Amino acid sequence: MIYSTRGGLEEQAEGILLGRVSSPLRVPVRVKPSDFLRHCLIVGTTGSGKTSLAMRIASELKRYGAAVVLDWYGEYQSVGDRILRVGAGDPVAIPIEDPLDAVFLLEEVLELSPPQSYLLAKLLKKPRDLERIVDLLEAYEPEARWEVETKASLARKVSLLLRYGRAFRVVQPSEVGRVEEFSRGRLTVFDLSSLRTLELRRLVALGVLNAVRYLKERRELEEDVFVVVEEAHNVMARGRFLQKYLAEVRKLGIGLLVVTQSPAGLDYEVMNNTNVKIVKALKSAEDMAAVSRSMNLDPRVASMIGKLGFDEAVVEAPSLTEPVVVELDWDPRGSER
Ligand SMILES: Nc1ncnc2c1ncn2[C@@H]1O[C@H](COP(=O)(O)OP(=O)(O)OP(=O)(O)O)[C@@H](O)[C@H]1O
Ligand SMILES: [Mg+2]
Repeated sequence: MIYSTRGGLEEQAEGILLGRVSSPLRVPVRVKPSDFLRHCLIVGTTGSGKTSLAMRIASELKRYGAAVVLDWYGEYQSVGDRILRVGAGDPVAIPIEDPLDAVFLLEEVLELSPPQSYLLAKLLKKPRDLERIVDLLEAYEPEARWEVETKASLARKVSLLLRYGRAFRVVQPSEVGRVEEFSRGRLTVFDLSSLRTLELRRLVALGVLNAVRYLKERRELEEDVFVVVEEAHNVMARGRFLQKYLAEVRKLGIGLLVVTQSPAGLDYEVMNNTNVKIVKALKSAEDMAAVSRSMNLDPRVASMIGKLGFDEAVVEAPSLTEPVVVELDWDPRGSER
């Protein structure tokens, strides 16, 4: 049997219809919003239709909570209820409580070395110092020989964040609720496409994720929040932010849709901490092997991954006893075809 009765039929009927099992019975595959709160991974090669799928899922999920998209390439305009063009309009509010939070954030975003982090921690005395870090660094007189080189390399890195104008401003966590209006039925798109550097996009993405977490932790937002993290391999960098975030926020009512083209680069913990997995077509043998291994795919199903069409995916979800090929179907009423 492929379709289990876990969760009860009533709840399943309420869930989002992903499609139908690619077999003569064409059993519908639904995913409950509560399953999305335990995170979803969408992987597939470039152009395999990940973004189109994430767009449709996010548009449906907003019925169950606030939906937020970290839109790396500015592709979500048509589905957004509120579009924030980061870098072109108002700066994004990044919550920072303690200067050390800013150090942790920049460690991740700029992939700092230990001496660079040390020097940064020395310079940042107040949370808002992050906004003038270039000036602080310029004014700093090195106290030791090693600091001369570290200062220069750190200056190169931080200039990537501030060179192209004000994309962000630092706020106290208590202020986030006043600037961010996330609500049920609304899909808020943070369009990062006009930010010129990868580092700046990554900083804003992590800042928004932190803002969502603060709102839920402080109970300033009752609704569940579903966040689409586009191009997640760029957001993850070398650090642990996203991996830790996935593990920590599930109890808070925050569900991430992690979208990436690089399954081979994915951390074991990301695989482990995503409850729903949607695999679109993959091309490289390395990616296919990584996915087959981590999802423990039946060889017959694994052999299909290279041949999947736009409307197909291998899906692992709580409503299925094992990963199967699904024909994606977007009739919201879920009527039989
Ligand atoms: N179900 C579909 N049927 C037909 N065309 C589709 C379908 N899904 C996506 N496409 C088209 O395929 C192209 C790539 O889709 P999409 O941008 O969603 O892929 P992607 O996996 O996100 O790509 P990238 O890795 O470049 O981000 C787009 O032009 C899109 O309109
Ligand atoms: Mg895409």
